[in-house]
Amino acid sequence: MNILGDISCEEFLNEYWQKKPLLIRNAFPDFESPVNPDDIAGLALEEDVESRILIEDVSNQTWQVKHGPFTEENFTELPKENWTLLVQAVDQWIPEFADLLEQFRFIPTWRKDDLMVSFAPKGGSVGPHYDLYDVFLVQGMGQRTWQVGPKCSESDATVDDVPVKILKSMQTDHEWVLNPGDMLYLPPSYAHHGVAVNDCMTFSIGFRAPSEAEVLQGFTDHLASELTNDQRYTDPALKDASATPALIDDDAIERFSQMLQDKINQKDQLKTWLAQYMTEPKYEDLHEPLEEELEWLDIDSLFQEAQHLTQNETSRWAYFKDEGQVSLFINGQPQPFKQTPETQTLAKHLANERHTTTQEILSYLVDPDCQRLLLDLINGNHLYFED
Ligand code: SIN
Ligand code: CO
Repeated sequence: MNILGDISCEEFLNEYWQKKPLLIRNAFPDFESPVNPDDIAGLALEEDVESRILIEDVSNQTWQVKHGPFTEENFTELPKENWTLLVQAVDQWIPEFADLLEQFRFIPTWRKDDLMVSFAPKGGSVGPHYDLYDVFLVQGMGQRTWQVGPKCSESDATVDDVPVKILKSMQTDHEWVLNPGDMLYLPPSYAHHGVAVNDCMTFSIGFRAPSEAEVLQGFTDHLASELTNDQRYTDPALKDASATPALIDDDAIERFSQMLQDKINQKDQLKTWLAQYMTEPKYEDLHEPLEEELEWLDIDSLFQEAQHLTQNETSRWAYFKDEGQVSLFINGQPQPFKQTPETQTLAKHLANERHTTTQEILSYLVDPDCQRLLLDLINGNHLYFED
């Protein structure tokens, strides 16, 4: 299925991705939401689920924000109109949303952040604002009017004394009413304002881009953790400094610069750090390995009965290739396995596909090294039998 309508994936990436907004009518024809508003409100009652309610007082332009978990009373106390419930990372709780994300696999999975669901009655919105990441806004139920403006920056004024970042003024370049199955793509920093026309749900598929500061800090922390105390600045070619002993001269600066560049340029280290960093789970405590470790004998028969092996919704997978090796990372940790052509093909397949049919991996099930890899992934609760 092509969710980009008349546009090919290549055209989308060349013309729109990170460049300009795009409205795709009927991206999901005959779209049926996997959830109804009650399901979303139910999730917001849960301790482990991140949720917020924003209430707008339209008469004096003030906003109230409340953080979940909520109680049923919280919902009965809400006004009739002009509020929004936001629930984060619903793809980790409802497998159908993880499946929906599969439609976006033309963007690397390690760029994905989460799928947020919003519910709003008439007039509900989170105000005019901009986000620092790419987002696809899929209309799940009801209708929402979206106004889209120009690209913003930190210098754009935001409303004082409100608990959310709202633009003081917003120029509108486009206005569209989205129906269920329509989708709006917004690159980072574009001003947008979505107001519910009636009871409406919107699914935001958000991507993440680490800030340069995070990358620099994260990578240098990683490098530093592997250095020993005796690896130090040296200056065996030091020149007589007595004329200007307080001067940090160009030679010294060059020696420090070279020392930093030598470290930063270690591509092998960068690969490892990136794979660790980009697979770190959104919520650390949500993932747990199986309580009781299984043996191959325990699961051998499951492969005959079950049709699908599925990636756990709380697991983030990525791998890189290096001198004939495949380095697999899940949830910020390396997943070591004996490297053979069979295990490498299997590992790549399992990382790339959310669902794997038993049929697809039948030939690997008799290979002891592949069995070990599968067993480790199942015991780690990164893969589960769907049926
Ligand atoms: C919403 O769903 O109401 C807001 C989503 C967004 O603007 O990013
Ligand atoms: Co937004």
